[in-house]
Amino acid sequence: MKSLFVGIYLAILADVGSTAPHASSTLIAPTAEPTGATYASGFDMTKSWANLSPYKSAQGFGATRGVPRGCELSQVHVLHRHAERFPTSNLLDGKGMGDFASKLANYTKLHQKQAIANGPLQFLNDWEYVVGENTLMENGAATEDASGADFWIKYGRLLYRSGQDNVAAWNESLNVYPNGTARPKPVFRTTSQGRILESARWWLSGFFGKSTADSSSDQYNLVVISETEGPFNNTLASYVSCPGHKTAGDEAAQIFIPRYTEGALSRLARYLPDDFNLTAYDVLAMQNLCVYEHTSLGGSFFCSLFTEQEWKDFAYNIDIQYYGNFAFGSPTGRAQGIGYVLELAARLQGRLIHSSDTSINYTYDDNSAQFPMNQPFYMDMSHDDIILSVISALGLEHFKYGPEGLPIHVDHAPSNRTFTLNDLTPFGARFISEVWTCPDNVSFSSLDPILYVNPRINEAPDSKRYIRFLLNEAPLPLKGLVGCEESYNGFCPVDGFLSGVPTLKKHAKYQEACFGDYPTGHQVGDGAPYS
Ligand SMILES: *[C@@H]1O[C@H](CO)[C@@H](O)[C@H](O)[C@H]1NC(C)=O
Ligand SMILES: *[C@@H]1O[C@H](CO)[C@@H](O)[C@H](O)[C@H]1NC(C)=O
Ligand SMILES: *[C@@H]1O[C@H](CO)[C@@H](O)[C@H](O)[C@H]1NC(C)=O
Ligand SMILES: *[C@@H]1O[C@H](CO)[C@@H](O)[C@H](O)[C@H]1NC(C)=O
Ligand SMILES: *[C@@H]1O[C@H](CO)[C@@H](O)[C@H](O)[C@H]1NC(C)=O
Ligand SMILES: *[C@@H]1O[C@H](CO)[C@@H](O)[C@H](O)[C@H]1NC(C)=O
Ligand SMILES: *[C@@H]1O[C@H](CO)[C@@H](O)[C@H](O)[C@H]1NC(C)=O
Ligand SMILES: *[C@@H]1O[C@H](CO)[C@@H](O)[C@H](O)[C@H]1NC(C)=O
Repeated sequence: MKSLFVGIYLAILADVGSTAPHASSTLIAPTAEPTGATYASGFDMTKSWANLSPYKSAQGFGATRGVPRGCELSQVHVLHRHAERFPTSNLLDGKGMGDFASKLANYTKLHQKQAIANGPLQFLNDWEYVVGENTLMENGAATEDASGADFWIKYGRLLYRSGQDNVAAWNESLNVYPNGTARPKPVFRTTSQGRILESARWWLSGFFGKSTADSSSDQYNLVVISETEGPFNNTLASYVSCPGHKTAGDEAAQIFIPRYTEGALSRLARYLPDDFNLTAYDVLAMQNLCVYEHTSLGGSFFCSLFTEQEWKDFAYNIDIQYYGNFAFGSPTGRAQGIGYVLELAARLQGRLIHSSDTSINYTYDDNSAQFPMNQPFYMDMSHDDIILSVISALGLEHFKYGPEGLPIHVDHAPSNRTFTLNDLTPFGARFISEVWTCPDNVSFSSLDPILYVNPRINEAPDSKRYIRFLLNEAPLPLKGLVGCEESYNGFCPVDGFLSGVPTLKKHAKYQEACFGDYPTGHQVGDGAPYS
């Protein structure tokens, strides 16, 4: 953590020093007032970048880490987010930055021969907007590759029982049933969107990675589910089939944004002409520019302009957007996630799906070529919001704030919320469902740090399957999950979980949430329309 902070500090200093001889010296001073590139407290701004934060293992959500002694790791289901991308065209994301750049360029054109900005904003006189759009970045590809490799060491070697000979990497000869007969090629899924498809390939490249860095695509089949408006049912991009209300979060954030940016606005406006009319949205754009420039270019002048509190509030503005658009604050929150939950249940039951009244497109799920059974692991490449909707469809109370959604008539982020995208959906986020088969005397109270060799106890009498969910490597507490009332330390009997799924489906109210007529314009409490 420390070294990351130091790295950023040095990167900013290096940028200021080397590429901007005309920059105001106040930028370089480590104690720049009222803001600065350094934070004496050790504050790390990258942890306040919400869903734009770099990947790191989550701090923890209240359930103990570790693996249960004596159990077999039977199966793993991965729902994965793409990694570092360029901004989307959303107003509060890429469009806002583009508008700010265009406003500045227009103003500059009208006031030739005049330096427009001064003080800490002096760099704007030579600044250009060079950030791209929508696609996966090179470092995003690297994040996915690393994640696939990490999955190999933690799960793949156990599921495929690599032994000492093949512990270093996947080997096709491992893809066999317990009786030694070859298994079919594993099948994985992705949406058709460029950054998602590329993320899937890079992740799989990391998993199958050969020491010679050969392409691994001959080792697997990839099912690409279209993400085009159609409407096309797609559980990994369920917003395309659910026209219901999905903007309560954006609307809520637009109430909070002018409030939290007030201080920065009056501070920064002083360094621009009055008739530039700096707005709250320009300030938000400048924070976004720090994040995107830092992520895609390796540094940014914008980063040192803001205080710790302003970064915490920036994070909250994005948390609100996602909470109200895709999670418990959204009337379609559960609906957008229930399709994946139903698919997970079907995979656990070894059952194909032949009809749909949710975002599932059953033509993908009614055949074992695209929806295989009993695969050691599944990997579905998707978006951050789908992970959030799945957590909401599961009803995990840990992430729920209150009956009216997240507070927005406040000046600063409430520190007592647990819905923080920095922990939930950084770039490359991973939601993992582990299936363990355990003997009847299993204890989940004290867990081991690692499983060296995966035992085979599948056929043992009295053995029982358990499911556990992890987000970014930290187990999730199951309070609120129907059917898992008896769970302990995050482990729920698979039978119990499956018994609750029909109720979860009811709670999601898919048809009403996606196609019904209900009051909109505000957040809700439980991820479904009030009724
Ligand atoms: C900048 O000028 C162009 C051309 O006149 C115009 O289309 C655009 O809307 C202006 N941008 C802003 C942010 O006002
Ligand atoms: C894969 O495993 C087989 C059997 O252990 C071995 O003969 C072969 O050399 C391995 N291949 C690679 C590329 O490591
Ligand atoms: C090995 O096990 C698989 C899966 O259970 C089965 O389909 C296959 O027929 C078995 N092969 C032999 C030779 O028993
Ligand atoms: C379902 O998927 C098939 C392709 O497998 C496609 O032709 C069809 O349009 C899709 N339907 C919906 C409603 O998504
Ligand atoms: C700022 O507002 C004034 C008054 O409405 C307007 O004339 C001017 O064009 C605005 N400046 C910019 C850069 O939009
Ligand atoms: C697509 O979703 C709708 C539910 O809104 C469902 O009625 C329809 O059968 C689904 N189509 C397919 C091909 O699964
Ligand atoms: C968070 O703190 C606020 C202010 O003290 C309080 O009103 C609210 O109930 C708390 N919410 C949660 C979820 O703890
Ligand atoms: C469960 O029983 C097995 C076999 O008797 C024993 O080796 C193991 O230590 C027991 N585990 C626990 C947690 O008591």
